[in-house]
Amino acid sequence: MPSYSFRLNGRPVSVESWDPAQPLLYVVRNGLGLLGSRFGCGLGQCGACTVLVDKQATRSCSLPVSRAAGRDITTIEGLGTPASPSRVQAAFVAEQAAQCGYCTSGMIVTATALLSRTPKPTSDQVKQGLSGNICRCGTHTRILRAVMRAAEA
Ligand code: FES
Ligand code: FES
Repeated sequence: MPSYSFRLNGRPVSVESWDPAQPLLYVVRNGLGLLGSRFGCGLGQCGACTVLVDKQATRSCSLPVSRAAGRDITTIEGLGTPASPSRVQAAFVAEQAAQCGYCTSGMIVTATALLSRTPKPTSDQVKQGLSGNICRCGTHTRILRAVMRAAEA
């Protein structure tokens, strides 16, 4: 069976798949057991599945595993831990920026990429940067506060 190798959260991994078009999201969740990245729309439209690919926020539901080969992938699990959260994760907790939490990992990963590109964004830049991530619970105000808090940390 064809196999694909990449770095995942700082560690080399190799996965087998008959289908080179299998979405990276399925490989990460079902094959590697990392459940933080969520399946929302499966169409690249909601952002729930966002991971970092070579530091770029990327919809893992729309990225074939074959195109992940050789890349550096970071999921929400690779950003921090409950004991040692990243500054964005800590800010989301401090601002209680989640209701159901389904969008939260995608929001945090997208915000992490945004802050690495633009360390001191305006609120309009944050709104623009997260405009492709949908929160069905309407937590946008707290999410915006959390990202601005992380930028100031
Ligand atoms: S599940 Fe990937 S963008 Fe919605
Ligand atoms: S907190 Fe429920 S979808 Fe965002």
